[in-house]
Amino acid sequence: IQRIAVLTSGGDAPGMNAALRAVVLAGEHYGLEVFAFKHGYQGLLDNDHIRLCGADVLHILQYSGTIIKSARCKRFVDADAAELAAKNLDALDIDALIIIGGDGSFRGAEHLAQFWNGQIIGVPGTIDNDLYGTDATIGYATAVAIAMDALDKIRDTADAMDRVFIVEVMGRNAGFIGLSSAMAAGSERMILPELQNDKPLTVAALVKHIERVQKIRGDGSYVMVLSEHQWPGGAVALAEQLEAEYHLPCRPCLLGHIQRGGPPAPADRILASELGVHAVELALDGQTRVMAGIKNHAPVAVPLADTWQKKNPLNKNLLRIQHEIFNPVKKNGNGQ
Ligand code: F6P
Repeated sequence: IQRIAVLTSGGDAPGMNAALRAVVLAGEHYGLEVFAFKHGYQGLLDNDHIRLCGADVLHILQYSGTIIKSARCKRFVDADAAELAAKNLDALDIDALIIIGGDGSFRGAEHLAQFWNGQIIGVPGTIDNDLYGTDATIGYATAVAIAMDALDKIRDTADAMDRVFIVEVMGRNAGFIGLSSAMAAGSERMILPELQNDKPLTVAALVKHIERVQKIRGDGSYVMVLSEHQWPGGAVALAEQLEAEYHLPCRPCLLGHIQRGGPPAPADRILASELGVHAVELALDGQTRVMAGIKNHAPVAVPLADTWQKKNPLNKNLLRIQHEIFNPVKKNGNGQ
């Protein structure tokens, strides 16, 4: 192969720039020409591309965001959009396309594969860590570090004021950021999608747990991590309900998009660097419709469709430790 193209798609994730840098440097190393399409799939449709050399990606790995921009492109589900993208890729003689993004972006990649004969390689870039086949996704470590830092800060004020806090974190439909940040910050409680699907937590059970934990510990602070979309009205509504109905002093805190910014954590920079090179080497190896992943420290190639069709489960041992050892909850199935 001679020419490859790369794009970043969907919600940006810290480390995407590091992955882009790695793709460009590996491309140069192997004598390939590297192009980038801007604004994700939208750039494929608009034929909005640039040629990238090593000099263009110097000193970008320490920044979050993505210098080639990202976007969510609703139109790409249409057949005529994928056909247009294929036409634009062929006009530029692209042999392989590297897509840095999450499950939505990989679905788009599979859709494109129905209309384009070139090779398609995915690189897992999402803070949600919700892709099967890789130990971690690029951006996840940074998001957890940011959430942990926020939870530590919240603890100071919760402790001083003997208050309950509900900290809402991202993760889309997965509880990875919630579980890891709760564990890292010693939170008393988590409301995670994986637990809510099984047996949704009731307010009455939550209040019992709060009161029990506060009594046993003689400490009024109680910091709860709530995954987004897991409570009607989110952290604000739940905090209001606890205050109004149970007279529990409670405050909500929504972390939102700060979880996607700031300097990428070392683990994300290193993962992104390894995966970017791995993606180029998979392309050189003739592979297609696979995601470049890392499993048990070794590079792997995972069929793209598996990455969202198969489940990436939460760490059961961490759940057990949180629910049985650190903050015992009455057994009602799945720690709820
Ligand atoms: O997928 C990454 C993510 O940050 C999710 O955690 C979150 O639900 C979503 O993107 C937010 O999307 P947007 O940036 O489009 O509001």
